[in-house]
Amino acid sequence: MSRPAQNKALNAADILARKGAAPLVCLTAYTTPVAKLADEHCDLVLVGDSVGMVLHGLTSTLDVTMEMMTLHGRAVARGTERALMVIDMPFGSYEESPAQAFRNAARLMADTGAGAVKLEGGRHMADTIRFLTERGIPVMAHIGLTPQAVNAIGGYKVQGRGTDAARIRDDAQAVADAGAFSVVLEKVPAALADDITARIAIPTVGIGASAGCDGQILVIDDMLGLFDAFKPKFVKRYAHLAADASAAIETYAAEVRARSFPAAEHVFTDQGTAS
Ligand code: KIV
Repeated sequence: MSRPAQNKALNAADILARKGAAPLVCLTAYTTPVAKLADEHCDLVLVGDSVGMVLHGLTSTLDVTMEMMTLHGRAVARGTERALMVIDMPFGSYEESPAQAFRNAARLMADTGAGAVKLEGGRHMADTIRFLTERGIPVMAHIGLTPQAVNAIGGYKVQGRGTDAARIRDDAQAVADAGAFSVVLEKVPAALADDITARIAIPTVGIGASAGCDGQILVIDDMLGLFDAFKPKFVKRYAHLAADASAAIETYAAEVRARSFPAAEHVFTDQGTAS
């Protein structure tokens, strides 16, 4: 399923051209109705592999599959008209070789209509990023804390503190040189994020990074307060939908038990034409 050419939609080149301009507004989405809400206000909507933890109850992103990404990607495409839709490559779908990455990236884009893919990794993924971009697949890179590497990193820790800063700086330069159109900087010190943003020619999109990045991204269920299993320090809750939903369900349950729902306006008589 290819999404029709999106005349109104932003593309990867538009996002790249926003380097140093007004901040890029980015959010994740996994379903059609939420994608519609995000599309109204965002430049970029990411079908993140965080879907595994947020919607499927997985304890990490490692078990997310191509099939899950395809299903959610198709749903998001139906709700996205204006924003660039980017889709995450799941763990195991791109690390083996550039050819494997190309095959799976092309499949994800063709099957969902996404305008770009995102993959995790810095210098060690540079050859793959170059291979994809030279063959027509726009790539958003993701460095700093890379959740798919949680077992190797030993937890969801801040990356690039002290002497480790050079590693993240080199990763940023490598993915920019390889042709990525933007890079997510996750959980790195603010001063390092600012330094990288000043040095590289592609937009930096921060999550737990700095307000000085070229853009920001959050997991939508985190910022809406829908996912409340835990709250990373970098998340700001702009709403408290889980609490609101819980209160609504509690009221519904009480009304059903008291037989006060359904009320007269919710039931039908044997006359009339209204449905
Ligand atoms: O999967 C995801 O949601 C992400 C964002 C947090 C950047 O990678």
